[in-house]
Amino acid sequence: RIVYLNGEFLPFAEAKVPVMDRGFLFADGIYEVSAVLDGHLVDNAAHLARLDRSLGEIGIRNPHDAAEWERLQLDLVRRNGLTEGLVYMQVTRGVFERDFGFPPADTSPTVMMFTQAKTVAANPLAEKGARIITVEDLRWKRRDIKSVALLAQVLAKQQAVEAGVSEAWMVEDGAVTEGSSSTAFVITADRTLVTRPLSTALLPGITRASVLRLAAEADLRIEERLITVAEAQAAAEAFYTSASSFVMPVIEIDGNRIGDGRPGPLTRRLRELYLELAR
Ligand code: PDD
Repeated sequence: RIVYLNGEFLPFAEAKVPVMDRGFLFADGIYEVSAVLDGHLVDNAAHLARLDRSLGEIGIRNPHDAAEWERLQLDLVRRNGLTEGLVYMQVTRGVFERDFGFPPADTSPTVMMFTQAKTVAANPLAEKGARIITVEDLRWKRRDIKSVALLAQVLAKQQAVEAGVSEAWMVEDGAVTEGSSSTAFVITADRTLVTRPLSTALLPGITRASVLRLAAEADLRIEERLITVAEAQAAAEAFYTSASSFVMPVIEIDGNRIGDGRPGPLTRRLRELYLELAR
């Protein structure tokens, strides 16, 4: 497996980062994940735009323009012979003696990318549907930034793992913010697609945006508003979206069966439409 690190393509074992890297010390950095399907990148322009925005919000200069990023991503995909899976990109504020304030302006950001082979299209879980739980949202107040500080999401996902389910939806003030690594949606009995409006309380999901654009084709109305835990548990259909899961049907929330316990027809339609778009 080949990794990209600071301008070089290296075997995994040789790609090393100094202990004084601010990503390691402070989680002072951001990341992105784009899907690869049939050897091409899915929704990549939007992922690179969000990468640029995340960097801007924390005052790290973007080391590459979008065209350069994409050239590097595709080079890495080719070197790894990847046809389906993910490209992970991470940029940290670089290496400097430990001090909370920013290092000197000429400190180079650390840039790293790796690929992961994964079945994203013909995912068996999407056929069966995912069971999920709700957990408390313990995160900071700038969740719109795709920060590598993911401890709250790690703990949320581990609760899901220990409960034997696939994802945890995080809850704040009685309403779902988003999944530990996905955007939460429900569909009501009258064909309304509901998801939380964008704010600093959640990540602006790239797959979310694409799915909202596809809603009309599935003959769904859209409501961007809060979803309470009770509404989610009693929804006609539910699903979550991300670069790594596309549109993932949810069949159980906190032990409550959703619909008839199989992926809902409108959710399946949205997944099909998204797959068409992604191919
Ligand atoms: N996670 N919300 C959170 C907290 C996420 O971490 C993610 C993505 C999403 C979905 O965003 P998108 O549709 O742009 O992938 C929402 C990635 C896949 C990850 O951390 O691996």
